Amino acid sequence: MGDMEFFTAEVPSNIAFVKYWGKRDSETQWPANSSVSMTLKHARTITSARTLGASDGRDIIFKDGKKLEPGNPQADKAYGHLDFLRGRLGFSGWLEVHTKNTFPSECGIASSASGLGALTLASIAAWTGCDDLKDLQLRGHTMPVLAALARIGSGSACRSFFGGYVGWEAGAAPTDQSVHQVADETFWPLADLIVIVSAEKKPVSSTVAHKTAWTSPLFGPRLAGLSERLSATNEAIRSRDLKKLGACIEADALEMHAVMMTSEPAARYMTRHSEEVISWIRSERTAGRMDAWFTMDAGPNVHVICEGSQAAAYSEKIKERFPDFELIADMTGAGPVLYKGTVR
Ligand code: PMV
Repeated sequence: MGDMEFFTAEVPSNIAFVKYWGKRDSETQWPANSSVSMTLKHARTITSARTLGASDGRDIIFKDGKKLEPGNPQADKAYGHLDFLRGRLGFSGWLEVHTKNTFPSECGIASSASGLGALTLASIAAWTGCDDLKDLQLRGHTMPVLAALARIGSGSACRSFFGGYVGWEAGAAPTDQSVHQVADETFWPLADLIVIVSAEKKPVSSTVAHKTAWTSPLFGPRLAGLSERLSATNEAIRSRDLKKLGACIEADALEMHAVMMTSEPAARYMTRHSEEVISWIRSERTAGRMDAWFTMDAGPNVHVICEGSQAAAYSEKIKERFPDFELIADMTGAGPVLYKGTVR
């Protein structure tokens, strides 16, 4: 094994407020629509990488201390992404990589955004020998450049390269895509209370389901209405208007799930338990007992969005009503960090 030093990247997960669903082109990861998300604070992937000697053979990735054996989709995606980065950036040298999530792996929080983001940043740090984000920037690896590279591994990963609220613009061509911060994490601290109704593996991976989006009769109407919703969502963030934001995120999540359910083949991520949670959130809100709104990703778990100041009180209410479901409390967070050495 090489005696080179490790470089460690911590990259947060994000929760989309207007979802990226469907691609115009998978090779360039050109999404069907622009999206906007909130970067999370606690849910992060921590990845350490170092270069190996030429005789050390090939890349090796350890997840939670266990070697990722090529042959399953998750491992192949990670090894494939290292090959892509090496080819695109002209680096040589095999890497030893150690990765773990700060959230339980099997809890159903999407880990591809933070995972592919951290793999991108840690490996480029190891290849360049650079442990400082500002130095990386001087060498041309700016946040937008890193985001665009991570996007090839997982579309949603590109939004994890900034803190706070982040927009991913689809643009008129694959090369016109861009990622930008709408507002930083101090501007509006919101809570994301994640109700884990099921930690089971997804019935259909999002990579597969993205492809079927175009077969849904609801997809065209969705795309036609999105620019209006994106403007309203950005406006709600800029004016810290929770009611306006809440209406946008609930409509968007339900619309995405309607597209999934009407695609061919159909994918249904929403379960009876998800429906119980979202109905309860709505009835509590209507009754004036909770100022909270929900969203859902490509899975059954429900993300309850509320003001950061209400997080503790609403967590208690949710736990009392749904004692059997695990609850993970997260909130608006900052972007990636990078340092020399292994996990701090
Ligand atoms: O980045 P992917 O391919 O895992 O797709 C993520 C899609 C959603 O999480 C459902 C929505 C989003 O915008 O994050």
